[in-house]
Amino acid sequence: MNVHAMMPEATHDEAARFAHVVSLKNYLMRNLEPKWRAYVDDTLAPQFSAAGRDSAEEYRDLEKRLAKLGAYRTWQALTVAAQEEMWRSVGTCVDRQLPELESRAQATSGGSVRTDESFVPPRYLSKVDIHLMPGGYAADRGGEDVRQGAVFDKAAALYHMGRNGGELNDVRGHTIVQHLFERYGHLQPKRILDIGCTVGHSTTAIASYFPDAEVHGIDVGGALLRYARARSASLGTNIHYSQQNGERTDFAEGSFDLVVSSAVLHETSFSALPRIFREAHRLLRPGGVMINLEVPLRFDTHSTWSRIRGLFEALHNNEPFWIGAQTLDVGGIARASGFNDVLAGYQNAVPKADRAAAPKFTTTPGPVHVVWYMVSGVK
Ligand SMILES: C[S@@+](CC[C@H](N)C(=O)[O-])C[C@H]1O[C@@H](n2cnc3c(N)ncnc32)[C@H](O)[C@@H]1O
Repeated sequence: MNVHAMMPEATHDEAARFAHVVSLKNYLMRNLEPKWRAYVDDTLAPQFSAAGRDSAEEYRDLEKRLAKLGAYRTWQALTVAAQEEMWRSVGTCVDRQLPELESRAQATSGGSVRTDESFVPPRYLSKVDIHLMPGGYAADRGGEDVRQGAVFDKAAALYHMGRNGGELNDVRGHTIVQHLFERYGHLQPKRILDIGCTVGHSTTAIASYFPDAEVHGIDVGGALLRYARARSASLGTNIHYSQQNGERTDFAEGSFDLVVSSAVLHETSFSALPRIFREAHRLLRPGGVMINLEVPLRFDTHSTWSRIRGLFEALHNNEPFWIGAQTLDVGGIARASGFNDVLAGYQNAVPKADRAAAPKFTTTPGPVHVVWYMVSGVK
């Protein structure tokens, strides 16, 4: 039973391929990776420290040492292979039913989508296929194409192995609202913008708490956004999607009460991230709130293995800004962009936001999918 009408359906054999991908990813993550973590953190890193070298700074050297080990290279190769097999198997499933998905999208009314044939995606998104997703976020065949959106949606639960809300993949959206309820409970947003919405997983979840609000989502790919509109509408939510760069949008100054981003900043660049914050500041009315959710693997709080794992993510999962984003003082950038009362810390991941829940926002780090890193502030 699909969670919404746009979700591509899997045949028996396709479902078996997906199960194989998940089981391989699980094996690599739960059986093999802990062994590398223990070896690096308990054996290698202390040797570096004992030699007078700060293991926190030497993770690149340690990674080179590891890469000389055949067993480590095998783990790397299998991890990349699992990711590639995920996209391949999902792509095959989507291609088999693409005309049907496109018809279904056209027959589903609600919300709007505005694409722009002359749109040029920023370099940090066009030069690499982030997450190894063939074609990247911006891939679009024009017309009524929804392929990249369908592929991203079907793959999301496999990618996160169900830990971000299963096939709805929406825990991040609920977690943003939980942060809002805890820290900005007075805000009754009438206009909301989600920057880097992809297929609206978080946007749709956020919109569900504010049925009277006008909700917008922007991203760089036409096929993502056409799919996003139909997906949100099939879940009973009308959202206005447009193909725009979050660094500079065509929305009027002061036109939003709430601007959010979810897992976007680490896929930008050193120069784009501050530009996105300045644009969020321009778009908010005085008193409006910006909330950014990010991967909670801040370098200053993490072990040597986590840093090496981050380097793997940057080099082999095509996330070139992974380390940059986690070493930047994101709260400081928010302040420098004009935001007041800036908060930077960790919010517990929740499947549903609850105004009455005991506050859980903290400065204590935690693992990914258990907490998310949050940077928020007020204009
Ligand atoms: C990991 S996905 C975000 C997923 C989504 N926000 C969620 O929570 O499910 C990152 C998204 O940010 C988008 N993005 C990155 N930089 C952007 C920019 N400057 N303008 C618009 N979208 C951007 C990418 O195209 C991609 O779709």
